[in-house]
Amino acid sequence: MAEARRQIVLMGTGGHAKVIIELLQADAANELVGCVAPESAGSPRIAGLPWLGDDAYLAALKLRGIQHAFVAVGDNRLRRKLCEYARAQGMQLVNAISPQANVSPTARLGGNIAIMHGANIGPDTVVEDGVVINSNASVDHDGHLSPYCHIGPGATLAGCVHVGEESFVATGSSVIPGQRIGDRALVGAGSVVIRSIPANSIAYGVPARIRTRANNALVVGWTPVTSLRDVKTNVPPQRKAG
Ligand SMILES: CC(C)(COP(=O)(O)OP(=O)(O)OC[C@H]1O[C@@H](n2cnc3c(N)ncnc32)[C@H](O)[C@@H]1OP(=O)(O)O)[C@@H](O)C(=O)NCCC(=O)NCCS
Repeated sequence: MAEARRQIVLMGTGGHAKVIIELLQADAANELVGCVAPESAGSPRIAGLPWLGDDAYLAALKLRGIQHAFVAVGDNRLRRKLCEYARAQGMQLVNAISPQANVSPTARLGGNIAIMHGANIGPDTVVEDGVVINSNASVDHDGHLSPYCHIGPGATLAGCVHVGEESFVATGSSVIPGQRIGDRALVGAGSVVIRSIPANSIAYGVPARIRTRANNALVVGWTPVTSLRDVKTNVPPQRKAG
């Protein structure tokens, strides 16, 4: 008898969600039941998925027997809050891993991880909850990707690199072996990191230099960490559509 498919609700309707839908649908064991997103998004039907309601609708879905969710939101801080919210509703967070990615059998993976096409995860690398490893990014052996960080498309992390919580290593950057990227740091596109980057910093260039240290830098692809109010686990985080 064929096994029942795993029913999954998607949180998010933006560009990142489109990629995640394709990854999840590539696995025949998954059945995407629809997406939840703020009502302000209007009727955010994406990739043929129905819009089921706003984030608070997750509780009703759980009562209807939907047990799995994936938070498909690109913003690191918001992804963390929505994952915490989904877990508090009793949802199990699944992973979305491209069949065209190479993941070492000795890598250790958390939940709600996205590993996109062409990505490489080396031996003994730890990938914690909510991490995004974008298309063609490479994380070599003994790396440590802390919760809710994002390794951008084509970024290359040599061996033993540590990336802090909610940090973003942008498109096409490189990091030499053994360096540490602090929590909530941003490494700009095309940078070469040859020295560790402190927490809450923005660094870019070749070699990467620290341009500012900020908790509230308004820059492309980066949401100020102070902009989102803390949420109780039974109240859905406030967020814009997408
Ligand atoms: C680092 C970054 C966040 C800075 O954005 P910003 O604050 O808007 O910076 P600006 O565009 O105002 O540029 C400020 C200066 O820094 C320079 N600069 C910006 N980003 C740079 C980079 N990655 N490398 C080298 N120089 C850079 C600009 O040329 C400009 O120099 P100038 O003052 O001499 O003209 C942005 O350039 C970046 O790299 N974003 C990554 C986006 C990305 O990869 N997203 C992937 C989504 S999946």
